[in-house]
Parts: sequence; structure tokens; C-alpha cells
Amino acid sequence: EQIPLSLKVNGKKLKLKVEPRTTLLDLLRENLNLTGTKKGCDYGQCGACTVHVDGQRVNSCLSFAVMHEGQEITTIEGLADGDKLHPMQEAFVKHDGFQCGYCTPGQIMSAVACVREGHAGSEGEIREYMSGNICRCGAYTNIVAAIQDVKS
Ligand code: FES
Repeated sequence: EQIPLSLKVNGKKLKLKVEPRTTLLDLLRENLNLTGTKKGCDYGQCGACTVHVDGQRVNSCLSFAVMHEGQEITTIEGLADGDKLHPMQEAFVKHDGFQCGYCTPGQIMSAVACVREGHAGSEGEIREYMSGNICRCGAYTNIVAAIQDVKS
């Protein structure tokens, strides 16, 4: 049985019908075709699926879509301002904060939350906050440099 769901995704109001067991991640990727948000582990271990829900970062694979009635979701696709990249996206490009790029959308969504929530005070603080976002290429040093650049 499908359940009605109203929510805002990247500034757009949507009215949908979803299966109760659909995760927020699958709703974004499969129903809305927003494939910037990645599925790595699908059980809360890698951070590739990180999005913002009412401004807070969330692992979208761990959350059912129907839990988000009336909420505002921001994905990597909603971060840029038209053609203008978000400052964190610019900083990742400038500092080579990736290699294969698969974890990058999740890294950037966490990084934006890191600075916004005031957890970018020191390298240690950044690494602690970002520890739920795994990068198998090991781009951590450059990711930290990008975050430090944005917060300064
Ligand atoms: Fe959600 Fe890995 S896909 S944490």
C-alpha cells in the first residue's frame, strides 16, 4: 500500500505516494532521479548517502521516506546557486578533495554541516565530525584542507 507524502526537495514542493518501507535514499534516487546522493553500504556505515533534512545532516539510507512529512530535504543537486557552485564545492575542486568521486556528494553535504554547526575549529574537530564519511581513495587530507579553506 502506498502512503501519501508531502515534502520539499531542493526548494521544490512535492506530493508523492510511497511504499512505507522506501528509504529516503531510494526515494531520492529511484523515485525522484536525484542520483547525486550515493548508495555505498545502505546500512549507515559509509556516509555516501548524506543529505540535509531541515538543515541537519542525515544518512538517508537509515531513514524511511514517510518519516519526513512536511520536511525540507537538500541534496547535492540543491547546493549550487544556478551555475554558481557552493563555496564548499569550489573548495573541493581547488584542493582536489576526491579521487574517484563516489563519496564526494556525501562528503560535501557533511562538510557544509560541519562548518555551519561550528565544528571546523581545528583539524582534529573536522576529522572527528567527518569520521562518518568514508573515502576509500584516502583523500582525507585534501578534504580537511577544503573545509579549512571555507571556514576561514
Ligand atoms: Fe548510507 Fe552508506 S549508504 S551510510
